[in-house]
Amino acid sequence: MKDNRTQFATRLGVIATTVGSAVGLGNIWRFPYEAGVHGGGAFLLIDLFFIFIIGVPVVCAEFIIGRHTGSNIRGAFRALAPGKPWGLVSYIGLAASVLILSFYSVVAGWTMHYTVKSAGGFTARMTADALHAQFDTFASSDVLPVVWTLVFLAVNYFILSRGVRKGIERMSNILMPMLFVILLLFTVNSLTMPGAAEGMRFLFMPDFSAITPSVVLGAMGQAFFSLSLGLGCLITYSSYFKRDTPLLRTSLITAGLDTLVAILAGIIIFPAVFTFGQEPAAGPKLVFEVLPSIFANMSGGAVWSTLFFLLLFLASLTSTISMAEITIAYFEEEFGMSRKTATALSIGIAMTLGMLCALSFGALDGIKIFGMTLFDLFDYTSSNILLPVGGMIISVFVGWVLDRSVVKGELTAGGGRITAMGVRCVVFCLRWLAPVCIGLVFLYGLGVV
Ligand code: TRP
Repeated sequence: MKDNRTQFATRLGVIATTVGSAVGLGNIWRFPYEAGVHGGGAFLLIDLFFIFIIGVPVVCAEFIIGRHTGSNIRGAFRALAPGKPWGLVSYIGLAASVLILSFYSVVAGWTMHYTVKSAGGFTARMTADALHAQFDTFASSDVLPVVWTLVFLAVNYFILSRGVRKGIERMSNILMPMLFVILLLFTVNSLTMPGAAEGMRFLFMPDFSAITPSVVLGAMGQAFFSLSLGLGCLITYSSYFKRDTPLLRTSLITAGLDTLVAILAGIIIFPAVFTFGQEPAAGPKLVFEVLPSIFANMSGGAVWSTLFFLLLFLASLTSTISMAEITIAYFEEEFGMSRKTATALSIGIAMTLGMLCALSFGALDGIKIFGMTLFDLFDYTSSNILLPVGGMIISVFVGWVLDRSVVKGELTAGGGRITAMGVRCVVFCLRWLAPVCIGLVFLYGLGVV
C-alpha cells in the first residue's frame, strides 16, 4: 500500500461514511414499498436474515480486499490476483456504479424538487388524486426532472472534488447525525397517530403465509442494494480505512444502523398509511404520491413534508458520493488524473446518462430496450444482474482464492476480539452460503426460476 494515500481521519468518520453509503433511498424509499408489497412483517424477517447472515460476511469480504490493498477496485484485484481474470469483476463494478448513479440521481432530483415544493406549501388543501396527478405530470415533464438531476449531481461534484477527508468524511460527519435526528422526530410523531397500532402490526407481525419464493428473493435483493454490496463500493471506501479499523465490528455496526433506518422508515410510513386509509402496497410511488397526501391532511403538514424530503435528499447524497467515488478513485489512480478531473469525468458521465433516465418518464418513454425504458433498464441490469454477479464473485474470491492468512490478518487486525471461530464463520458464509443464495437471486432476477 502506498504510504501517502489518504485515509479517513477518525473512527467516527469511518462509521459515518460507511453508514452514509448504506443508508439511502434503499432504506427510506425502497424498503417501505417492498415491505408494503410483500406483506410487511414476513418481508422484514427475511430481510434481517439476509442482511446479517449473507450481507455481513460479504461486507467483510469487500473490506478485506479494500483495506488490504489500499487501492481502487481495478488496482485491488491486480494486486491480489495479478494476471488472473478475477480483475474483470472490477469492470462490472465500474459499469454498474455509473448506471446506478445515473438513475438514482433522477429519484434524488425528485426529492430535491419535493423539498422545495413542500417548503412552498404545495400539499396544502389538495386531494390525493390531485397529488398523484401532480407527481405524474412533474416526472414526465421535459425540463424540471432533468434540471434537478443535474443540480443534484452538481452538488455531488462540489463535495467530491474537495477530496476524501474534506469532502466525503466531513460532510458525512455532519449529515448522518442530522439524518438520525430528523428520523427520530418523525418516529415520535408517527407513533402518536391513531393508525400506529395497525401500522406496527403490519410491519412487525410476520404473516408466514405471505412468504413466497418471490418474497424471499426480493428481500435478498433489498439486503444487497441497501448494504451497497456487490460493486466494490465498500472496497473503495475501506481502502481509506486505517490499519486498526476493526472490520467485523464495522460491518456489524453498518448493518445494524442500516437496518435500524429501514425499520424506522417503516415505523414512520405505515402508521400514517393506515391512519389516512391509504394502501400499503402502492409500490414505488408510496413515498412520492401517498406521503404527500398524508402530509396534506396533517397539521403542520408543509413543515413535515419539507423535513421528510430533505431527509431523503440528504440520505441520497451520502449514498451517491460513495457510488461516484468508485470511478473517481479508479480514474485518479489508474490514469493519473487529478482529483478534480477524475470527479468531473465521473459526474459528467452520470449527468449525460442521468438526463436520459430523467427523460425516460416523458419525452423518451417511447425508447424501449428489451421492453424497458432507459431508467428501468439501468435499474434492472444493475440491481438484478451486475450486483448479484459482482457480489458472488467477490465472496467466492475471498472465500476460495485469497490466501487464508490475509483474510485472518485483516479480520483480526487492530486487536479486535474476533476469535478463530468468528473467522471460520465468515469464511464458511463466503465459501458456501453466500454464493449459493446469491446464485438463486441471480437466476430469479433473470426469470430462470
Ligand atoms: N445502499 C444505498 C441505498 O440503500 C445505495 C447504494 C450506495 C448502492 N452505493 C451502492 C447500491 C453500491 C449498490 C451498490 O440507498
